[in-house]
Amino acid sequence: MTTRLPEAEIGPELHLSLQGLLRDCFPGYPERSYFKIPPHFRYVVTDGTTVRAQLGVELRVIRVGDQILRTFGVVDLCVREDSRGQGLASRLLDEVTGYAAACGMDFVILFADDDSLYGRHGFTRVDNPLSWVKINDHRVIGLAQAVTPHELMVRPVSGAAWPAGEIDLLGHVF
Ligand SMILES: CC(C)(COP(=O)(O)OP(=O)(O)OC[C@H]1O[C@@H](n2cnc3c(N)ncnc32)[C@H](O)[C@@H]1OP(=O)(O)O)[C@@H](O)C(=O)NCCC(=O)NCCS
Repeated sequence: MTTRLPEAEIGPELHLSLQGLLRDCFPGYPERSYFKIPPHFRYVVTDGTTVRAQLGVELRVIRVGDQILRTFGVVDLCVREDSRGQGLASRLLDEVTGYAAACGMDFVILFADDDSLYGRHGFTRVDNPLSWVKINDHRVIGLAQAVTPHELMVRPVSGAAWPAGEIDLLGHVF
């Protein structure tokens, strides 16, 4: 079963299961169910009490050059090892993109080293310099300015072209 859950409505038991999945999928993941700060909502795939996959989403307004864009930022997409290769991640990417269109977003954006999955789902790499608020263990520790991490991928939702210019994430990087 796949559900889209507002973060605030996720109870402690599901948080623990999500934490287990995230820590299994991402080596060095902190002992909580989010990396820096919680997403606004998540897609969660469950099978009975087992969480098979999750995808977090941040509703982010960002500035690129002079343009203000409404985006969904995808965070921590992961699938349990024994459930991989069955199209679960692909399904979640399609769901979030469809929902982004229904919500009138301009782009879905994410950061990824490996673009194989995302390239197949309409995401392309962009290389604008980027600024964000640095957070470590619930403390703001500074600003990263005009960095080009070469990891940002964007997928247009409303048909708009990705603008040129510096990106201000107006918050932390995800
Ligand atoms: C990446 C991941 C979510 C894919 O889940 P999945 O349900 O198996 O994905 P799908 O079945 O829809 O698609 C499989 C495709 O994902 C791609 N893929 C595999 N590992 C990947 C990775 N680490 N990052 C990006 N794409 C990846 C491959 O192209 C694969 O296709 P192939 O089997 O033909 O090579 C899963 O492997 C996972 O949880 N990995 C650990 C966490 C992670 O790296 N998440 C991505 C963060 S950007």
